[in-house]
Amino acid sequence: MADAHPVTVSTEELRRKQREYLFPNVATLYEEPLVLVRGQGKYVWDAEGRQYLDAFGGILTVSVGHCHPRVTERTIRQLETLQHVSTLYITEPQVRLAEKLAELTPGSLKRSFFSNSGTEANETAVVVARLYTGCDDVIVLRHSYHGRSMLAMTLGGTHSYRAATPVPGVHHLASPYCYRCPFGLTYPSCDLRCAKDVEELIQTATCGRVAAFIAEPIQGVGGFITPPPEYFKEVVSIVRRYGGIFICDEVQTGWGRTGTYLWGIQHWGVEPDIMTSAKGMANGLPIGWTITTDEVASAFRHSTISTFGGNPVSATAALAVIEVILEEGLADNAAITGKVLMDGLKALQEKYPCVGDVRGKGLMIGVELVHAAKRPAPDLLNRWLEATRKRGLLIGKGGLYGNVARIAPHLNITRTDAEEMLRIMDEALAEVQPFMEV
Ligand SMILES: Cc1ncc(COP(=O)(O)O)c(C=O)c1O
Repeated sequence: MADAHPVTVSTEELRRKQREYLFPNVATLYEEPLVLVRGQGKYVWDAEGRQYLDAFGGILTVSVGHCHPRVTERTIRQLETLQHVSTLYITEPQVRLAEKLAELTPGSLKRSFFSNSGTEANETAVVVARLYTGCDDVIVLRHSYHGRSMLAMTLGGTHSYRAATPVPGVHHLASPYCYRCPFGLTYPSCDLRCAKDVEELIQTATCGRVAAFIAEPIQGVGGFITPPPEYFKEVVSIVRRYGGIFICDEVQTGWGRTGTYLWGIQHWGVEPDIMTSAKGMANGLPIGWTITTDEVASAFRHSTISTFGGNPVSATAALAVIEVILEEGLADNAAITGKVLMDGLKALQEKYPCVGDVRGKGLMIGVELVHAAKRPAPDLLNRWLEATRKRGLLIGKGGLYGNVARIAPHLNITRTDAEEMLRIMDEALAEVQPFMEV
């Protein structure tokens, strides 16, 4: 294979130049950030030739494995045919993608708008919801993450990502974080207090009507917080009573990630009025997507363009990714291999007291590390990350307290891959457990 981009600078030099030339707040994992030079299938390699099994997929983005042949081949062909024209012109890949997505999404979701990131997708969704309802107030969950624009940062429910003065009209509801219930209750005797509280939030913090409730089916950056089965039906029905619509952020949970279904929200049996996604949609090519109904979309009457949105290259990549996911039954594979991982991690929870909680669905599993009395243990998570890296496995990090491992490998992993991940995580936890403060 031709070396498309030969590495000419040493790892040390790259780290030094990254520190010198990039914004200092660009977050990296590990005490010594990893420099990656190549990826193929389930593996990535560093500059020294060390191989890593990738269980984080570039933050749940490499859905079908690194440099998937079909996606790569189709993308290259499109690059050689037509790369960019903007939304001012019609292209077949964009139209075909929109048609396909209308077919694959629940209810009467039909009209797509393409952009370049999850941030833009959510920004678009909130603008449309505000125009449609004639109302500005938006309800969002604490511990959520929806992107990095001014509005999206405000929507986020984690202080560490909120760098700017909040945009008005956004109200944060307690998260359905059962392991650390904000009301000190226990499911199911809690009677879904966290969902029902939305009514009081609307009555006390808004003018009595709302534009939308925006939420991730499983809170991703927040540490894979997984709401109880009845949660969305309860909260969405209350929001709708107050005039609001439901924006479902499927940036992390879409594309079969949560197993069985293509969309995370299908596990909760609720049809969104607007859905957004990005990340895993094009396996790493930049794309953002907002879909809604005819009725809601028609409220957005101002002209709009996106220079790069819906470009033929990203749209072609997305079409190829969707084909692979559907033809290879990857939502089902996520359910099957996800169960292997979930069962294995639950067994590790029994074995290691520092594993406080294991949660998630499909190939989206969070492991919350704690000291005694559930005290968050970000130090233990950092040790676990280093110990798994040393053994050739990459896992992710999340949670308000930085103590939740995010395990989210590619959707086409095998049972053997899942078992190998478990073996490494087990060995690495044995190294971490002695540092638990009891
Ligand atoms: C649920 C969710 N929504 C939106 C975003 C923002 O996406 P992007 O980084 O592509 O702007 C993210 C990114 O992590 C996300 O996890």
